[in-house]
Amino acid sequence: MNLKHIVSTSQFLDRTLLKRIFGLADRLQKADEKNIVPKLLKNKILASVFYEPSTRTRFSFESAVLKLGGGVITTESAGHFSSAIKGESLEDTIRVVGGYADVIVLRHPEKGAAERASRVSSVPIINAGDGHGEHPTQSLLDLYTIQQELGRIDNLTAALVGDLRYGRTIHSLIQLFSVCKNTRMFLVSPKALRLPPVYASFLQKHKITFTEHGNLERVLPEVDILYMTRIQKERFLSLRLYNKIKKSFFVGTAVLKLLNKKAIIMDPLPRVQKIAPEVDEDPRAVYFKQAKNGLYIRMALLSLLFKKAGF
Ligand code: NCD
Repeated sequence: MNLKHIVSTSQFLDRTLLKRIFGLADRLQKADEKNIVPKLLKNKILASVFYEPSTRTRFSFESAVLKLGGGVITTESAGHFSSAIKGESLEDTIRVVGGYADVIVLRHPEKGAAERASRVSSVPIINAGDGHGEHPTQSLLDLYTIQQELGRIDNLTAALVGDLRYGRTIHSLIQLFSVCKNTRMFLVSPKALRLPPVYASFLQKHKITFTEHGNLERVLPEVDILYMTRIQKERFLSLRLYNKIKKSFFVGTAVLKLLNKKAIIMDPLPRVQKIAPEVDEDPRAVYFKQAKNGLYIRMALLSLLFKKAGF
């Protein structure tokens, strides 16, 4: 395996590689709990360059490199606080930051931005979300959470709910499901936010059975995974349409009653208006564990990038 950049989930469609990443994440988690994380990234500097807001992705990457003994340089709201505001191109920013850091974690509003960056970068680029494109590290922590919580990644029925059109976590997770055997999918969204044809074709090509729905209730008794996503307000050209559909799906006590007893409720977060606070107490709610797993998956990925995975 030769990972230089992490740009797309398509680089991870290999069960052996996933097993290696998940195993490493397990070991790093155990070491972290005992406070004995090996300093695999000593003297390495991670630059987080985020042109869009983030809580989990940025903090977990920064925490990951610090725990592994490295350091962080960062710019929040890179669109305002980096030279982008002076008109510097993404390519030039990447060329320059690559001289100060050993790895760049990039979040950008344009689809394809991480790929563009990787073409000019002298150091590894990690895609932390490129507009409505992909979010590969999120899909890895999602599947890792599924493995941990359900004890398997095969023979699963998943409902992917919300903004399937613009939700980059969905576009990545859909691809990752192609390594799982015998997956059945319910795609639940408002009509305007259906899964783009390119991903629907991907599912067909990989023989993943899916049906599209406008209603959540009907699918609840059958699912192992209820994966909620936020309607991506920032991608809408018309706020009128956003306001019309922003409350399409909501998980509250009524949904909990109908949901399969053995299911798990996942969400890349933020929850905004889609999950009631009382759901947090339900044992099926795993979204905060999912967020925590992001730390260990990102520690594992950084170790792999720097070929320190022998741990
Ligand atoms: C997601 C994102 O940025 O795509 N958040 C995350 O990274 N955990 C989901 C979202 O913002 O809705």
